[in-house]
Amino acid sequence: MIFLSSDSLSRVNNAIGIFDSGLGGLTVWRELQAVMPYERFIYVADSKYAPYGNKDSETVLQRALSIAETLTQTHQIKALVVACNTATAAAVFQLREILDIPVIGMEPALKPAVEQSKSGIVGILATENTLQSDKFSNLLDAHQHKARVLTQPCTGLVEVIEQGKLYAEKTKSLLASYVLPLVDEGVDTLVLGCTHYPWLEPVIRELVGDDMTIISTGKAVAKQVQKHIQAHVSNEKKQAVFYTTGHVGQVSALASSLLQTNIVFQPFLSQHSEP
Ligand code: DGL
Repeated sequence: MIFLSSDSLSRVNNAIGIFDSGLGGLTVWRELQAVMPYERFIYVADSKYAPYGNKDSETVLQRALSIAETLTQTHQIKALVVACNTATAAAVFQLREILDIPVIGMEPALKPAVEQSKSGIVGILATENTLQSDKFSNLLDAHQHKARVLTQPCTGLVEVIEQGKLYAEKTKSLLASYVLPLVDEGVDTLVLGCTHYPWLEPVIRELVGDDMTIISTGKAVAKQVQKHIQAHVSNEKKQAVFYTTGHVGQVSALASSLLQTNIVFQPFLSQHSEP
């Protein structure tokens, strides 16, 4: 039998916090929810500040610190999932330094991509900020001797997703301009290095055909989170709570249409007043 102190008992029952610049992190949340249905999740969409991908990294760092502070002080979370590659690159080291809970970040799935690629040429779609970060350049250094790695910043994609225009002509032509040159170069494995992009996977699949391997990170991260946390001891499924710094009506409508279920967001009230 395992005895838990009251402190560790309360920690077991605490929620897991997740944040992203907007609704990209929901592609991670749905994987977390699938493997840990008895955990409580608190999701924060920092929609007022989206996209993060073209902000300077100090701004993204300050957003991450502010959200983390509110989630830990007001909501007593037991783990934090940075469900955003851009915010991970800008803030994960500092978050780990200041928080006494596990902080799990995202990074483009380069390792499985180079292992799976048969042509030896892999493509990475991500935000400008992610691709320019030191964290990504270290990742590239560790793997690029195993394959030719082509990186593609996808400016504008997060914006069209946040407007719900997944299947608009503009989205298709933007995607085609990013993805088809990679296909021409012989890429057979495509990494979705931004948590928003899995919402576009059907459109990407249409462009690249059935033979392309498309890799995103949600499932792998969910397994990692599971390893880090003290599991909730309950057999009752928990409802996630959703917050946004943006317009609650618009964000709720878009999230509901993406997830095909009714999702209601509430205003996220930060510990400190917003700039
Ligand atoms: N979901 C974020 C990521 O994974 C999107 C960044 C943005 O807001 O530009 O990078």
